[in-house]
Amino acid sequence: MKTPKYKAPPPFEMPDRQWPSRTLAVSPSWCSVDLRDGNQALPNPMDPDQKLEYFQMLCRIGFKEIEAGFPSASQDDFDFFRCLIEENHIPDDVFIMGLTQCRSHLIDRTFEAFKGVKKGIVHAYIATSELHMKQVFGTDQKGTMKAAVEATRRIRALADTMPESDIRYEFSPEEFTDTDMPFCLELCKAVYDAWGRATPEKPLILNLPATVERRPPNHYADMIEWFIRHFPHRDSVKISLHAHNDQGMAVAATELALMAGGDRVEGTLFGHGERTGNVDLVTVANNLFSRGIETGLNFSSLSEIAATVERLTGMPVYYRQPYAGEYAFTAFSGSHQDAINKGMHRLSEAGKIFGMKWKVPYLHVDPADLGRNFEKLIRINSQSGKGGIAWVLEQDYGIQVPKAMQPELREEVQLYSEAVGREISSEEVHTVFREKFVNPAGPFKLIGYWPRPDDKDPTFIHGEVRIDVSGVEKTAVADGNGPISAFVHAVRSIVGIDFSVADYHEQAVGKGADAQAMAYVPLKLEGNGIVFGVGSDSNIDQAAVRAVIAGLNRIAGKKQK
Ligand code: KIV
Ligand code: ZN
Repeated sequence: MKTPKYKAPPPFEMPDRQWPSRTLAVSPSWCSVDLRDGNQALPNPMDPDQKLEYFQMLCRIGFKEIEAGFPSASQDDFDFFRCLIEENHIPDDVFIMGLTQCRSHLIDRTFEAFKGVKKGIVHAYIATSELHMKQVFGTDQKGTMKAAVEATRRIRALADTMPESDIRYEFSPEEFTDTDMPFCLELCKAVYDAWGRATPEKPLILNLPATVERRPPNHYADMIEWFIRHFPHRDSVKISLHAHNDQGMAVAATELALMAGGDRVEGTLFGHGERTGNVDLVTVANNLFSRGIETGLNFSSLSEIAATVERLTGMPVYYRQPYAGEYAFTAFSGSHQDAINKGMHRLSEAGKIFGMKWKVPYLHVDPADLGRNFEKLIRINSQSGKGGIAWVLEQDYGIQVPKAMQPELREEVQLYSEAVGREISSEEVHTVFREKFVNPAGPFKLIGYWPRPDDKDPTFIHGEVRIDVSGVEKTAVADGNGPISAFVHAVRSIVGIDFSVADYHEQAVGKGADAQAMAYVPLKLEGNGIVFGVGSDSNIDQAAVRAVIAGLNRIAGKKQK
């Protein structure tokens, strides 16, 4: 048979797997590897000042374990460790971690970098897959076992020379997910014995990486469950997950592996790291947060964090990145906008109905919890629906467009958006509203309206109207059983349009002395449907008559087309 180019990795035979029926209820602990795995994969790695700023941001977010670099691999990383320790930048409750290969001179140099540290984690790794052992290093299981055990003994011996420091040990069998599991288990047991200092209080960290995402997430979870079941010293080890994102499933792999028993997660903010990156800790942590799990990480000013990471790494955060992306809390489609609008207005009922305070269509978390803004929730483009457009005007300008007028407004916004050929801002929606409904171009300009109550019956009105019609001043008088009806009767005789006023809406915009009345007046045309005009004035009757004039100008404009 011809050898195929690719083949599926064999699934794990474990019919009694438990993880699929478990639910995550507690948070893992977190370790940021931004300054090592993340930094080594940047086109322009950060300089020491940038790394320090990043480190301080990680501390503010709440990370208690931070891999600060690979101190034996470069002078810059070594110096960065020295700077953190000598200049006292490390909070008392934070461990800094340094990566090393299982080679004696690199281990020695790592310990030099750690001198004087209060809390440190020495992180040794060795490749354990057949692929690496055979094709890269020309070694085998025996050789790898020997190197790992010798390295661990050396680390133990050097850690013993630093009794004033709390030195922990992390061991990573690199390419865990491509490694023969029984061998990996034996290796980790041998490392555990060689370290000999693991206790429930100071556990050995066994970091089991999906160095390259070669398998689907369920395989990773199977392997983690299998390993945990077979490892004999469960109480004295922390099982750490370290997923990369080559198949785009690092978050899923991490979540399933947590269900399988993982205690700790290594990753980076926004998924920086080799190739397609490490698992994105912002997403994993906020997924848990959105299910009511306290994570110990504070992302309440996520936009600021994203801006800082973008500035320091030179890498933009993707628009559609969960939680942090510019579009994470926007809705473009009309039906989504409408649903959000309704859900937000009925939020107070959510607790009673769903037993949780936040349950809003299309928004699984409250953007405010991440320091993000409601005002930007709805972006308008030519696909936007009437509900969304109305929501923008209400949220940003306090303008409550009546339901019956919303389709007409939507048509105008759509025309504008199509003409400019892009998504439009809420200011532009407001401009369309003002230009098309409040001050539309047209032949009619109100010079003045003087309503006078009848001497005997004050509800009966005598009105005098003066209008400029295409540069010619015209005057009319008429009566009516209210100021608007008198106005309509008088205007009708001037403008030559047969219209009536259906019931109209009024609204106060603003407060106190600055409040303006807003009138939304539907003009009914014989056989031609309804056209809305909007007027605003400090006096409600004057606002309504302005709205009538605006509506007449809209009608004249439509007739011309
Ligand atoms: O991805 C990986 O395997 C690593 C190890 C060094 C832990 O980054
Ligand atoms: Zn990695």
